Amino acid sequence: MQTGRLNCEAHGLLPTSDSSYAPGSYEVAAGASNLVPIKGAWNRYGARRIIGFTVLGAFVLFLLAQAVPYGRAHANPPVTRALKFDTATTQELFTGACGDCHSNLTKWPWYTNVAPVSWLVAHDVEDGRARFNVSQWDQPQPDIQRVLKQISSGEMPDWKYKPLHPSAQLSTAQTQALMNGLARSYAKDPPSLLRSRSAERAAADSRAKSGPLPSAE
Ligand code: HEC
Repeated sequence: MQTGRLNCEAHGLLPTSDSSYAPGSYEVAAGASNLVPIKGAWNRYGARRIIGFTVLGAFVLFLLAQAVPYGRAHANPPVTRALKFDTATTQELFTGACGDCHSNLTKWPWYTNVAPVSWLVAHDVEDGRARFNVSQWDQPQPDIQRVLKQISSGEMPDWKYKPLHPSAQLSTAQTQALMNGLARSYAKDPPSLLRSRSAERAAADSRAKSGPLPSAE
């Protein structure tokens, strides 16, 4: 323990003569016999500093996150071949509930510019388009059974998407209309190629092998 003037607040100490205490510096006697620690590790002054540094640290991290380039491009690649929906109603239902992640006509609201939301949204759109994309009907697409199963099981539209998108909060009747409409659209305008599950597994395997992690074998 040093002697000399000491800032009691900063060190979590109180002079023993409590009645005379006022925030500020105190002369520390040899052996610091005139000072006692404020009771409890989370004393008033310490806690205030910890909370202050935590908030400041979080804010600095938030600012640094904005400098990460991933998720800001918001690219909408060209439509190579659009699915011809059976009716405008089906198209509207799909656009409102699925289109932002399963077409190349994604709308990017302002908050998709703010990290870390931007990272999550960019990742979902990339992943969603890679699996099912009504703007690339000339590329392999899942069969209609898989699409309908995603909807009937409640897996799609993605739960994260619904709170901020009323158009994705489908009623039972709308869900049924979307499923019937997609089935008719597939029948009228089937995708040129279906994505087979074995081809996907092979693609996933080769991605895993060429990735930065060593393969399991
Ligand atoms: C917020 C983005 C988002 C929305 C909205 C969304 N999806 Fe998806 N969808 C994804 C992502 C991400 C995946 C891939 C990961 C997964 O399966 O969860 C996916 C996967 C799929 C797949 C492929 C499953 C497979 O077997 O490969 C289908 C089909 C699908 N979604 C249909 C739909 C339909 C239909 C809607 C609208 C009712 C919809 N999605 C809404 C993001 C979304």
